[in-house]
Amino acid sequence: MSLGLRERASRVLLDNWHGQSTIPASGLYPHQWSWDSAFIALGLRHLSPRRAQRELESLFGAQWPDGRVPHIVFDASTPADAYFPGPAFWQSAAVTAPGHPATSGLIQPPVHALAAWETFRAAPELARERGFLPRLYPRLVAWHRYLTGRRDFGGRGLVSIVHPWESGMDNSPAWDTPLSRVAPTTSLFTRRDLQHAAAGERPTDLDYGRYVRLAQTYRDHGYADDLATHAFAVEDPLTNALLAASEAALADIAVELGLDPAPHLAELARVRDALADTLFDGGDGCFHARDVHSGQPLRCGSVAGLIPLVVPGLPVADALVKTTVGPRFRLGEIGLPPSFDLTDAMFEATRYWRGPAWFNIGWLLWRGLRLHGEHELAATVRAGLLSAADDVGFREYVDPLTRNGHGASDFSWTAAVILDLLAAA
Ligand code: SER
Repeated sequence: MSLGLRERASRVLLDNWHGQSTIPASGLYPHQWSWDSAFIALGLRHLSPRRAQRELESLFGAQWPDGRVPHIVFDASTPADAYFPGPAFWQSAAVTAPGHPATSGLIQPPVHALAAWETFRAAPELARERGFLPRLYPRLVAWHRYLTGRRDFGGRGLVSIVHPWESGMDNSPAWDTPLSRVAPTTSLFTRRDLQHAAAGERPTDLDYGRYVRLAQTYRDHGYADDLATHAFAVEDPLTNALLAASEAALADIAVELGLDPAPHLAELARVRDALADTLFDGGDGCFHARDVHSGQPLRCGSVAGLIPLVVPGLPVADALVKTTVGPRFRLGEIGLPPSFDLTDAMFEATRYWRGPAWFNIGWLLWRGLRLHGEHELAATVRAGLLSAADDVGFREYVDPLTRNGHGASDFSWTAAVILDLLAAA
């Protein structure tokens, strides 16, 4: 099985390479996406370490002067109407320097330092020759500084996201309550996603109307990070967990560069404590996002609440592991992570982030389980992800119960994390 799977996964990444970076999938996602690129680098490093380095370098080449890493970097050779919202919507040129690539103005979860460190480790000699880490490190530091310096809206030491797209889990039920307060846009727009994917597998039109309204408002305020202008502001456990894990990676990178890792280890401890102290619910053994405006926890069964397992030294790892194997996620039994609580009436097996299992989430849980010594369960997740990809191909997501494939085909991060899991045998 493994040889054929590796070849097929490699083919996806080779076909989706666009010269300087990799598109997530042709048709549905024809540009470069931020957290996709990080997962793609994790797989690409086994195929072409040079390309994996380029992947991250090209993303950080589009970093804004304020340190933010935009969630989409538009490919200038792709027609402007291939994706909505495109460059004309975001108007990034108004806030970046002349010659800067056109980008969105939102962010995505900060998994990049972790990806950069793993990319370095795949080919240290080549990386040193190319000055990969010396060039990337200050940019990664500026990225984290943007997050902690400009996005701590709750004043609790955690990063807030200001749009469901920033969570990477666009239509997660976790966002239903804060999103319900947002008036949908009155502007007319054409959803390009529905030309490539079934409506039943995507966010609804009402969701999209609200997504567009939030993005328009941010843009119309010059992308200023002022809480008063954001109708949606939440502290998300996945975003903050990846920030903490990435600080641990920055400590490793600092050591490689002969720098002091202590500030990064202190940041790791600070974010870890803030997460555990404020977003963990001992009652149900899960982390929950918090709505900054209402001050209320967004109690719901999003798999984002399990992602803090990737944080080194997490004090509540045992409770989280118990939750992963309990009735809500059944990870030990099905080997794939549902994106939402299987026992909840809102669970939808094929609708984007409201139930389907995603391979990058499986990869993060696999990594987190190994980090906390849960090797048997990690092996079950690895086997579940590999066999699902072998059966249905490199789909964007799968129904965790039937294991049927859904969303885009030949999806880059699916192929990339499969390559990484194969290499970890
Ligand atoms: N995930 C969003 C989309 O579906 C954008 O980031 O297009």
